[in-house]
Amino acid sequence: MEHFSILIDQHKNIRNLLQAVQKKIPIQERTELLKRILTEINAHTLVEERHVYPVLENFEPLKREVYGFWREHERLRQELHSVIAVAQDERQFQNQMVRLSQTFEEHIKEEENRIFPEASKVVPKEELKKIDRNIAISVEQTKKVA
Ligand SMILES: [Fe+2]
Ligand SMILES: [Fe+2]
Repeated sequence: MEHFSILIDQHKNIRNLLQAVQKKIPIQERTELLKRILTEINAHTLVEERHVYPVLENFEPLKREVYGFWREHERLRQELHSVIAVAQDERQFQNQMVRLSQTFEEHIKEEENRIFPEASKVVPKEELKKIDRNIAISVEQTKKVA
């Protein structure tokens, strides 16, 4: 896809981290990975909430759909916090991780297969370029702070 490529890369990166943390690894490593996942998910959802969703909401066919996406971000962050809270308990941790991974996969599937392609059709080229630029700038700034 021509647009939103940084977001799609971030999806892949987060998916890899979610898979890595579910492997049999020392608890210390798990804690470290969870911290990174928290940082990455926060950064990613924030960029979408700041630079993508508000623009898409201006276009009628996307407006209603995007509403649900804000709520899914909220759910993602809540589920991640639940995972972190039970990180020391093997069984609970694995259970909560399955749930979080599912929520994440469903969310990004909708974005990549439905929302981003639809936005690429409905939103004018100039607006799309502006979104991509804002995403890139925002990601660069986050890197500098980190
Ligand atoms: Fe999202
Ligand atoms: Fe996303």
